[in-house]
Amino acid sequence: MKFFIDTANLSEIKEAQDLGILDGVTTNPSLMAKEKITGQANVFAHYKAICDIVEDGDVSAEVISTDFEGIIKEGKELAKLADNIVVKVPMIKDGIKAIKWFDSEGIRTNCTLVFSAGQAILAAKAGATYLSPFVGRVDDVTWDGIKLIEEIAAIYSMQGYMTEILAASIRSPLHIVQAAKAGADVVTCPLSSIMGLLNHPLTDIGLKKFLEDHQKSLQG
Ligand code: G3P
Repeated sequence: MKFFIDTANLSEIKEAQDLGILDGVTTNPSLMAKEKITGQANVFAHYKAICDIVEDGDVSAEVISTDFEGIIKEGKELAKLADNIVVKVPMIKDGIKAIKWFDSEGIRTNCTLVFSAGQAILAAKAGATYLSPFVGRVDDVTWDGIKLIEEIAAIYSMQGYMTEILAASIRSPLHIVQAAKAGADVVTCPLSSIMGLLNHPLTDIGLKKFLEDHQKSLQG
């Protein structure tokens, strides 16, 4: 399973990249706004900076337009920024049309705002490279986001769809483990969820004891 980080914050992206396990980055308009990146030139420069940090890793950059022509125009501009840009397109009628068009042009896409298996089938038919079901936001409305990943994974494998399932809106280390078990190809999550995977009290207790015993052995 690939690990993407879900942020537009350059220092968090660098920290995750330094860990050596980062496969890519996802952004969205809310995450860009959080970094106070506004104006097309600044937005494009920021995407380029992210692409430079992750080198070969995929970087999802989202279109703002919601009409076919606008999505195509924006997507073409974004795709020109770097080879590792993936154009993020919302799950709407014109978005599906645009994903089909991008696929025919060899431009990779991430279909975002996915909340049902039906939407997942449509995105795969259109040729999306990645599909982003929002696990945490499904949980927020008391449905089961991980069950949705399981359902989509079963359908994709049965039907032989090539679209990769990118479990998004991941909120905790437990979500990462559950998404892996459910058959996600990729998880995208905050740095805190990735770092949370490190933690176990028995690791801390065990390491403390090993180091104490080592000190004792030095003292004879
Ligand atoms: O990038 C989309 C998704 O990961 C957003 O997550 O936590 O805002 O629901 P969240």
